[in-house]
Amino acid sequence: MPRTLRLGVNIDHVATIRNARGGEHPDPVRAAFAAAEAGADGITAHLREDRRHITDDDIDRLMARLEIPLNLEMAATEEMLDIALRHRPHAACIVPEKREERTTEGGLDAAGQHNQLAYFVERLGAANIRVSLFIEPDPAQVEAALRLGAPVVEFHTGRYAHVEGEARADELKRIADAAALAAKNGIEPHAGHGLTFDNVAPIAAIPQIAELNIGHFLVGEAIFTGLEASVARMRALMDEARG
Ligand code: PXP
Repeated sequence: MPRTLRLGVNIDHVATIRNARGGEHPDPVRAAFAAAEAGADGITAHLREDRRHITDDDIDRLMARLEIPLNLEMAATEEMLDIALRHRPHAACIVPEKREERTTEGGLDAAGQHNQLAYFVERLGAANIRVSLFIEPDPAQVEAALRLGAPVVEFHTGRYAHVEGEARADELKRIADAAALAAKNGIEPHAGHGLTFDNVAPIAAIPQIAELNIGHFLVGEAIFTGLEASVARMRALMDEARG
């Protein structure tokens, strides 16, 4: 039976550690295999314009060897579109990208960038790549994704992860409401960014959410427990929360 809540493991920061010294170790492709072994349903990798972590060669090797779906995170640029169309990964998640940012700091402005994004959604979709838009949990963004014909949206959980108390409860409600709105309109909702063992359960419990993409925390935790244990624990917490 297919899982109702999938775990996509983002391996970018295995590549960050490798690139700190150059060379080949630790290999993100090996991490992808370990994650799959421990219960990941898919692997996510962000090929950034500046190649600061994942490289073109990593994508080549993942596409050649991975047996679970690859979700390619990409900016809406011609270069990335060419790469996606050449490899045809299972999925592509369009993210905003700024060179100076440390990580993807906010969602796409799907409403304000309709014309630019429509071209990418159409080209990727025509190549049978499942397109997702990384957006804030905001009804205007969900409606914009609907107008764009995106089959999937991924809600940015960064704010949820970084605030506390009442602000976190408010943000959780925003995510739950946005997920319900997306699902009602036939869009599959996903979520990710900043999720940890401590904050994943309420997000995993949102019934419409079909996939969580989690990276930095899992790779950090792997230093202490190993990647398999870190992924297996996240998987168990998600399953428990989903009931
Ligand atoms: N989803 C998207 C679209 C992202 O850009 C990222 C970060 O690369 C993640 C999920 C994973 O976030 P984190 O590494 O904080 O778990």
